[in-house]
Amino acid sequence: MNYEFALIGYPIKHSLSPWIHERFLKETELDGSYSIIEIDPTQSFEKAVEGLKQSSLNGFNVTVPYKEKIIPYLDEIDEQAKHIGAVNTVLCRDGKWIGYNTDGMGYMRALLNKYPEIANNKEQAVLLLGAGGAAKGILYALLHHGYEDITIANRSLERAKELARANNTIEVVSLEKAEAGLASFQLIIQTTSVGMKPYETEQIISMEKIDREAIVSDIVYQPLLTSLLKEAKTHGANIHFGHAMLLYQAQYAFEIWTEKRPNMASLEKQLKLELEG
Ligand code: ATR
Repeated sequence: MNYEFALIGYPIKHSLSPWIHERFLKETELDGSYSIIEIDPTQSFEKAVEGLKQSSLNGFNVTVPYKEKIIPYLDEIDEQAKHIGAVNTVLCRDGKWIGYNTDGMGYMRALLNKYPEIANNKEQAVLLLGAGGAAKGILYALLHHGYEDITIANRSLERAKELARANNTIEVVSLEKAEAGLASFQLIIQTTSVGMKPYETEQIISMEKIDREAIVSDIVYQPLLTSLLKEAKTHGANIHFGHAMLLYQAQYAFEIWTEKRPNMASLEKQLKLELEG
């Protein structure tokens, strides 16, 4: 079998997904390719989808700005993607399109791989910074894994409240309050794009009051060592880089398409080197 995978989105010329999936294919000794299908938002999305339906793709990833737009064209959608309201992976099988969202679960896989001990500490206090699409996926995965003591801090409180509404164990605070009460959290997850190149000096909250035992995880991976992680490290806390999520959400997608789980042992280091240029 010769697998054909692709990524749709815009702009995606610099996406790392082909690099990752080509390595997965090699690692699992499967034949195939992964291409980039850039769909300009000024083009008709419907027409682009028609083209995809005619293609021989076995599966594709979906990124900005089509994660929600793709939903009406699916034949089926898994529960998680439905709940999140966004799809990043489509399986094309027997003429049907089935939508999934691997971001949140991919994130948890990455985190648990680096810090397996947190699986035994589900009562720890978690601080989620941000309330956008990425936060939604990660929140779903956290709840699915049994974490309940979750606080969401966001610039717009209304948006955070909306996200929390679905689950009454979740608290909402302002970014200022989160910063002041930082010492009470054991796991801090930064889910926004704050600190991403070319705004590397930006930081969503100060890490000054961080507990030294805490884990600080940032989903931004350009740069790898964001200013948030740098400050957390200076205070002796444990840190978790964003590229791991990118890799593990891709691993999960690859598994949906091929039913094979690529080994990640050397890939994480390779991707780190790739990102560091
Ligand atoms: P994504 O789908 O990538 O998560 P998004 O849905 O646009 O993107 O969400 C962006 C998140 O980053 C939101 O939590 C947003 O806060 P608001 O809801 O208040 O807009 C947050 N964000 C973006 N820029 C920010 C900034 N400069 N300071 C603080 N939060 C910011």
